[in-house]
Amino acid sequence: MRLRPALSTDFGFIRSVAGRAEYAPFITDEDEAALSGYQTSPAARLLIWQDDHGPRGFALYAVPQDGAAVVELRRLALDQAGRGEGAGFLRAMIGYAFQDLAAQRLWLDASGENARAQAAYLRAGFVLEGRLRQHWYRPALGRVVDLMIYGMMRNEWQARGGLASCSPPPPSLHLP
Ligand SMILES: CC(C)(COP(=O)(O)OP(=O)(O)OC[C@H]1O[C@@H](n2cnc3c(N)ncnc32)[C@H](O)[C@@H]1OP(=O)(O)O)[C@@H](O)C(=O)NCCC(=O)NCCS
Repeated sequence: MRLRPALSTDFGFIRSVAGRAEYAPFITDEDEAALSGYQTSPAARLLIWQDDHGPRGFALYAVPQDGAAVVELRRLALDQAGRGEGAGFLRAMIGYAFQDLAAQRLWLDASGENARAQAAYLRAGFVLEGRLRQHWYRPALGRVVDLMIYGMMRNEWQARGGLASCSPPPPSLHLP
């Protein structure tokens, strides 16, 4: 499994996942023009998580332009949710934020009704930092939901193993 930048040929996959009716309460589906904008914007990273058979998930980051090193994981979804793949997916995305984007802080939000994502975030090491009550309007539900804010600091990621938690050590580090 690996993360790579999304290509235009991935837009069909991204939209097939983001546009799924059962995900609509939790994530937003945007059109190809918006996805294309993320590909070229220095303030965004649109990534595909894939294995040898093709894309398995996608992630969208908001990258600071002001030197604050505060990165937002704005949107993420797996093609196959609820099968225990979230842990590896999240480890890869967290590693990308702290290693490749040099984040000092990584944060994200989730619907207060998205129990599965919240469990995955806590298990991945995020700290629940707040709850914005009746804050996020979801067109699919026709009402607002609570928004949960989760954060992780760079030293917290390092304390959990940092990069070593994302991938096995190189062969030279294996003991005989
Ligand atoms: C969020 C997401 C990446 C998590 O990955 P996942 O593979 O589905 O998660 P897992 O199967 O590893 O489950 C995560 C945890 O939630 C629990 N869980 C699963 N379904 C659940 C449910 N319906 N209610 C509560 N908890 C649930 C699991 O038991 C697991 O808990 P554990 O870590 O204590 O064992 C994935 O569900 C997804 O893509 N969802 C659709 C889009 C979405 O919601 N994106 C997040 C927007 S904030």
